[in-house]
Amino acid sequence: MTEQERLEEFEARIAQGDKIEPGDWMPDLYRKQLIRLIHQHANSEIMGALPEGTWIPYAPTFKRKLALMAKVQDEVGHAQLLYRAAETLGKSREAMVEELLSGQSKYSNVFNYPCETWADIGIIGWLIDGAAIINQTLMAEGSYGPYARALKRICLEEAFHIKQGYDIIITLMNGTPQQWAMVQDALNRWWWPIIMFFGPHDKASVHTATLQRWGVKPKTNDEQRQEFLRKFVPKIWELGLTLPDPDLHIDEAGEVHFTDPDWAIFYAVINGGGPMGPERLAVRRLSYQEGAWVRRALAGRPVAAVA
Ligand SMILES: [Fe+2]
Ligand SMILES: [Fe+2]
Repeated sequence: MTEQERLEEFEARIAQGDKIEPGDWMPDLYRKQLIRLIHQHANSEIMGALPEGTWIPYAPTFKRKLALMAKVQDEVGHAQLLYRAAETLGKSREAMVEELLSGQSKYSNVFNYPCETWADIGIIGWLIDGAAIINQTLMAEGSYGPYARALKRICLEEAFHIKQGYDIIITLMNGTPQQWAMVQDALNRWWWPIIMFFGPHDKASVHTATLQRWGVKPKTNDEQRQEFLRKFVPKIWELGLTLPDPDLHIDEAGEVHFTDPDWAIFYAVINGGGPMGPERLAVRRLSYQEGAWVRRALAGRPVAAVA
């Protein structure tokens, strides 16, 4: 078969809804973009465990603690599933973790901000997991089999995360005026990072149309952001909360118009310049070092023999 015939067969399979599997022929661009995408997604899951993890000892009740622990544990499990999915494309997990720890490979902007109060845990669970599930539900329909299957399971768990966050918000809002104010304050602080969560505006990239046709990225950043806003802005208003964007409004067609955030902040944050960037990576490095003996033991090498 010529390269052209292989490409035509590959595209025909995707057009009819077939999943591409690890041993199948695939264009280099497809493999490269999927590795980058799944790697960054896996990084975000494992880094996402950190802001919420810091609140486990301070959860206000035993039940809240159990739920938060289960949620954080799920996120680490998502990272595990996703690194495994990326490995099927030919990049080792060690290489991916090394690149995360050295700052060479990115993760989501939202995990480089501090969690200041318990209400932040509610906002993260409700709105950040809410944003993630929009992205992940779409990607679960993507064309690469191992990634799509991992996402199907992840989405089931994300549905629980959203409920966990929403329940915290509702409980606080039914509490004292101070608790209500905590929720509004957390929403104000997280709003712009959440708007930026979907990434910069769609660029007229030379590859965008091809990658969409190949089912690598079924919807653009702007389309996903709009879907999130249409779903959550009415719910936020329904609860009596306000958003820190005076120009935000919904037009007759249901489209949400909002102020464009300062994208310089986004780039600074994903490059480690966020308020918690260096600290988050330092914690991850420490935990990688401290887990070295577990990796050695699992590999069947004597722990004492390796420094
Ligand atoms: Fe997750
Ligand atoms: Fe989650």
